[in-house]
Amino acid sequence: MLNEFSKNLVVLGANSDIGSVLVERASQQPDANILAVSHQSPLPASADRENVERHHGIDLSDESHLNSLAKLVERKFNGPFGVVHSVGHFWIHKSLVETSFTEIVAMIKSQVLTLFGVARFLTPIMIKNKGGRIVTFSCNSVGFNYPDMSPFTASKAAIESFVKCYANEHAEFGISACALALPTIRTPKVLKEKANGDHANYITPEQLVDFIINHVLTQPHEVNGNVIKLFKHSPTFYHSSYYDRNPRRDGSPKSKLL
Ligand SMILES: NC(=O)c1ccc[n+]([C@@H]2O[C@H](COP(=O)([O-])OP(=O)(O)OC[C@H]3O[C@@H](n4cnc5c(N)ncnc54)[C@H](OP(=O)(O)O)[C@@H]3O)[C@@H](O)[C@H]2O)c1
Repeated sequence: MLNEFSKNLVVLGANSDIGSVLVERASQQPDANILAVSHQSPLPASADRENVERHHGIDLSDESHLNSLAKLVERKFNGPFGVVHSVGHFWIHKSLVETSFTEIVAMIKSQVLTLFGVARFLTPIMIKNKGGRIVTFSCNSVGFNYPDMSPFTASKAAIESFVKCYANEHAEFGISACALALPTIRTPKVLKEKANGDHANYITPEQLVDFIINHVLTQPHEVNGNVIKLFKHSPTFYHSSYYDRNPRRDGSPKSKLL
């Protein structure tokens, strides 16, 4: 059943592949009141709806921008609200030594620091408004510790740890948080990057956001501090190795077993 957390919703990374679908579908709920916040580019005009207030130019790793975000949220909501953090750089599989230090810093900053910032600046408003939900995204790679992904996977592991600590610290205020450990989602960037992937069995952004709206934002606040796994069966995932699914960029054999 839809509730105040799915209707009064802040979507961060509102121009991301997943965030933009969330804005679209969350705004279709009766009485929805959405604050859609993006970083470099505005949401397309197609996202223009009466119940969606759009802002862009907010860097969630910058303290003064986080302060501006808090002012927007405080002005918009006077009761409990939900926040979905759909933020963090996309990862293209490559080894650590092929990754520049600048990229590593940017990955950690965009994935982890933005979440800390959002929680630090929005939690006082949730406490004042008597409740809140934070939903963020991890990845199933945390469970598998794949090669060629450490800046991304270790950032996601930090996100999982943060959500658990945050839940314990804020449960007394009716605030909960969770991380969805996503498999590969059928987003435009993924379809391009994984041209030979098992596209038919990837979860679509629409399926994901409907799950968030109907089952995650709406769960009782006692369901707290969890990492929620989401997956569909994929024959190529379960019956092939990592290097079969992700050929090395330098053209060396996909798998030593082949
Ligand atoms: N797609 C998948 O298959 C998949 C799988 C596992 C996990 N996830 C996670 O799910 C989330 C959304 O994924 P996606 O594929 O939809 O993402 P995406 O399309 O790559 O978009 C990433 C978003 O992060 C924003 N961002 C980066 N740095 C920021 C900053 N400093 N301040 C504010 N915003 C910032 C970007 O804004 P700008 O572009 O304007 O800078 C963009 O909106 C991410 O956390 C991703 O790691 C996705």
